[in-house]
Amino acid sequence: MKNTKVRTAVFPVAGLGTRFLPATKAMPKEMLPVVDRPLIQYAVDEAREAGIEHFVFVTGRNKAVIEDHFDRQFELEAHLAERNKSAELDALRADLPKPGQSSFTRQQEPLGLGNAVWCARDIVGNAPFALLLPDMLILARPGALTQMIKAYEQNAGNVVAVEQVDPAEVSAYGVVGRGAGDNSGFAITEMVEKPPVGSAPSNLIISGRYILQPEIFDLLGQHTRGAGGEIQLTDAMQKLMESQKFTGVEFVGRTFDCGSKVGFLTANVAYALDRPDIAEDFMAELQKLTGAIPAKSG
Ligand code: UTP
Repeated sequence: MKNTKVRTAVFPVAGLGTRFLPATKAMPKEMLPVVDRPLIQYAVDEAREAGIEHFVFVTGRNKAVIEDHFDRQFELEAHLAERNKSAELDALRADLPKPGQSSFTRQQEPLGLGNAVWCARDIVGNAPFALLLPDMLILARPGALTQMIKAYEQNAGNVVAVEQVDPAEVSAYGVVGRGAGDNSGFAITEMVEKPPVGSAPSNLIISGRYILQPEIFDLLGQHTRGAGGEIQLTDAMQKLMESQKFTGVEFVGRTFDCGSKVGFLTANVAYALDRPDIAEDFMAELQKLTGAIPAKSG
């Protein structure tokens, strides 16, 4: 298989975010802020750092605000310019993909992640692409996708980011089996979506970052339903493993599952403590809070 450069990233943002209701009733989950940046902005930043040149968003109803977020806002820019807030103005502009670098398509029904990815097929075309789930926020330097691109350059084929979790947690995620490997990654022997506790092949979960070959679209186009009645990406990857190589990469970094309330709240604490402008003040407030509230016993 030819090791073609990865230029395009897909961001599926059409889910309903039911675990975060009522916050996500009118606002997309991907616009929830961690400190002062929406989740989707972190994912785009990570992709850009990894050398991605085109950003494809698979949106749905109620998601128009994501498109607005990645557009210029002339009224706001004029307001900042009048008040000589050039640092804020520059920062806002730096967040945007350049003109023509982004595409938006719609998943008309939330039939599952696999179906959302399939909706990007015509825009991606016949080339490998990165896939980032914005609600899986990864604090890593270099970014998780940059680490994966290195592994892709050595191994080619498909690359999946994985991390170890407590075995009791595996049934909420896609899980992989570990084969032979080296520093750059290991051969994935199997994949299963949301396995019941006790039947998982390992405690290595798929962390929401992928580099995939375009043949995945043919398999997703079969529209086969899997766990939860949804079209699952993991099922299509499992099939693609019959003809293509999949490498697992245990990246260096920490993931926060911001689709869950505890993960989202923990991410806010971790990212605030990672921000030189607010870390000290925030830590002082945290100490007051944790000193005042005794830890729950039992
Ligand atoms: P989740 O599995 O977290 O689903 O999606 P969800 O619908 O967003 O949230 P819950 O489980 O109801 O709380 C992971 C990623 O895949 C996208 C989501 O937007 C999220 O970024 N997704 C999921 C789609 O784009 N379409 C879908 O049909 C499902």
